Amino acid sequence: MPHDQPAQPLRAHPSPGPLSGRLRVPGDKSISHRALMFGALAVGTTRIEGLLEGEDVLRTAAAMRLLGAEVERLGEGAWRVAGRGVGGLTEPEDVLDMGNSGTAARLICGLLAGHPLFAVMTGDASLRRRPMKRVTEPLAATGARFLSRAGGRLPLAVEGARHPMPLDYTLPVASAQVKSACLLAGLCAPGVTRVVEPEATRDHSENMLRHFGATVRVAAEGAGRVIELDGQPELRAAPVQVPGDPSSAAFFAVAALVVPGSRLVVENVGLNPLRTGLFETLREMGASLSVSNGRTEGGEPVGDLVLRHGELRAVDVPAARAPSMIDEYPVLAVAAAFARGTSRFRGLQELRVKESDRLAGTAALLAAAGVRAEIEGDDLLVHGTGGAVAGGGVAVAQMDHRLAMSALVLGLGAKAGMGVDDGAFIATSFPNFVALMNRAAGSEALGPA
Ligand code: S3P
Repeated sequence: MPHDQPAQPLRAHPSPGPLSGRLRVPGDKSISHRALMFGALAVGTTRIEGLLEGEDVLRTAAAMRLLGAEVERLGEGAWRVAGRGVGGLTEPEDVLDMGNSGTAARLICGLLAGHPLFAVMTGDASLRRRPMKRVTEPLAATGARFLSRAGGRLPLAVEGARHPMPLDYTLPVASAQVKSACLLAGLCAPGVTRVVEPEATRDHSENMLRHFGATVRVAAEGAGRVIELDGQPELRAAPVQVPGDPSSAAFFAVAALVVPGSRLVVENVGLNPLRTGLFETLREMGASLSVSNGRTEGGEPVGDLVLRHGELRAVDVPAARAPSMIDEYPVLAVAAAFARGTSRFRGLQELRVKESDRLAGTAALLAAAGVRAEIEGDDLLVHGTGGAVAGGGVAVAQMDHRLAMSALVLGLGAKAGMGVDDGAFIATSFPNFVALMNRAAGSEALGPA
């Protein structure tokens, strides 16, 4: 576990040449977690291809095993899950340790709420700081009981509902994790579980529920959606093909845009419209970014991203776009640092409760690189340099993979490179990030500090 290991300081040297070639990033993290969970709840054997084998997802695999599913790795990205059927999970013999993963922790709370069992959950120092009340409060209405540390933090204990009640819940924050936790609990309850989201968030749970045979109705309501799930379905095992993670492709997209002369293709990237806010924003900044070979695979749109370096201009990102790019703001801030003019990203309050306080962490990262940035309320302002980022500093990763990777991307394009105090957490979502970036750069631009 990275939090038990010594820090791994990393450094990005200015890339000696352009990024080029074609590459694939690892599987989508959100879809990978869900494939393991729905596979564990299905009757029969689910085959998964392209599973992300990052630490976060391996935590989910281990938790599904502890809850009674058979989970086996067959080869690179190829996994087999023999499920227990809806309501068929069994009491775990040990504590569920979700490591760094908020998605695993919150979704599994939903799963546990619907089963008559006792479980204890914990995580690393970052996850133990993150709010869990946003799931335990709505899930209590199923009849499940949660006990947690002050402020609803992990570790927590749950006694799942013997006779779970369906939920009717309106989300107070735009969160796919909370929505998904409610839907997972609703699988075990009779009747209809209803979740209203004020803004549409990633719908991988809804898509995969249908793929496994559940009945899910989705209706638009203003900017948001009403989702209804018919309870106690028989989920049937179904093959899952996991596309490349757009949130991981994001680092390569921005790296190609800021390293002069680059021309890069990232193949097989998931392009679910509720995930592609960054790509839309980069285009608004004048980026040369196009999609080729667009197709649908496993119910999700995918395509190849074609990127070319070029000048970027500042952008004003509306708050309404945040749910479709919530994990991409640190690396967007890097793009904005290279752009001409001052960018404003609006409505970033949710960034404060990610793997770190990402709003403060992103501003600090830019400051360490000699780029002026300010937080105004819930907005981030980045004063772009028109391509001349000084760099040279050392960013503090704060147990946050996305801050670490963003700092390294900045360093590739900066005059003096950039360091990060601890890159160990990159393995939570993108274990081969350094190797893949060096391959694209054709050098050892990234390496130990
Ligand atoms: C995720 C939802 C988002 C995102 C996270 C993955 C998911 O979190 O930040 O990385 O898989 O549902 P929130 O639901 O808290 O916004």
